[in-house]
Amino acid sequence: MAIAIATATPEPMALRVRGLSKRYEGAVSPVWSGISFDVPHGQRLAIIGGNGAGKSTLLRCCMRLIEPNAGQVLLDGLELTQLRGAALAKARARVGFVFQKHNLVGRLSVLTNVLHGGMARASSPRMWFQGLASAEDRDYAMHCLEQVNLAHLCKRRADELSGGQSQRVAIARALMQKPRMIFADEPVASLDPQAGEDVMQVFSDLAQQQGMTLVFVTHHLDHALNYADRVIGLQQGNLQLDSAAIRLNAHQLRGMYAEAAA
Ligand SMILES: Nc1ncnc2c1ncn2[C@@H]1O[C@H](COP(=O)(O)OP(=O)(O)O)[C@@H](O)[C@H]1O
Ligand SMILES: [Mg+2]
Repeated sequence: MAIAIATATPEPMALRVRGLSKRYEGAVSPVWSGISFDVPHGQRLAIIGGNGAGKSTLLRCCMRLIEPNAGQVLLDGLELTQLRGAALAKARARVGFVFQKHNLVGRLSVLTNVLHGGMARASSPRMWFQGLASAEDRDYAMHCLEQVNLAHLCKRRADELSGGQSQRVAIARALMQKPRMIFADEPVASLDPQAGEDVMQVFSDLAQQQGMTLVFVTHHLDHALNYADRVIGLQQGNLQLDSAAIRLNAHQLRGMYAEAAA
């Protein structure tokens, strides 16, 4: 006898952006309009474009940290543009956001800073203080630090770290909320070249070894080519480029994104 079993269709895309447009209050023209792209689970996507092209605006609109004027954003199939309050916060927690500036609390330990990342999920403020965090939370924070190769510095004060180490702690802090995706806005812009490579490698490993989806903004064309599977480019208010990284070379991109190459 055949039994019909209702199975939920797995959402094939980590992120769907449909017809997204943004114009800031008082601005004459939109930053960009009619932007659409899909990001499959596990993809590493680089967003490039000149200064002011709207890269940061796009990444933030994908989490509704900035409100788009039109269009849809679906995270794991959840339409973010329809959600409010706790449901919006829960959907957003699927994404770990890493900023250019790490914003660690300097006088606190590395481990305590990482524990703060769990506050997106926690209902009580106990994670503010390492001493009050449960053993389970502390173990998970150590696991997150291991993923960025910094477990050995867990007791160090955050203000004693190098720039590259600090950014890796910020990644561990983002991992603490158990995200399925990482969004990063020029995460290595203020680091020296070697530290920048180290941080990009950490991101890339998270995607390739753990199937995490990675969306990062960069002005280093080499990082887009070496650490992304796919590159999209913003220019003059449109998505002018959407290509597998393997089909691109730095020379082509410098022609299109002269400012980005600076
Ligand atoms: N809060 C804001 N209010 C008004 N205009 C803004 C705001 N943020 C950014 N812009 C403008 O929107 C455009 C895109 O900015 P941004 O997304 O930061 O570009 P990018 O990250 O590519 O350098 C720029 O012209 C910038 O001046
Ligand atoms: Mg920016």
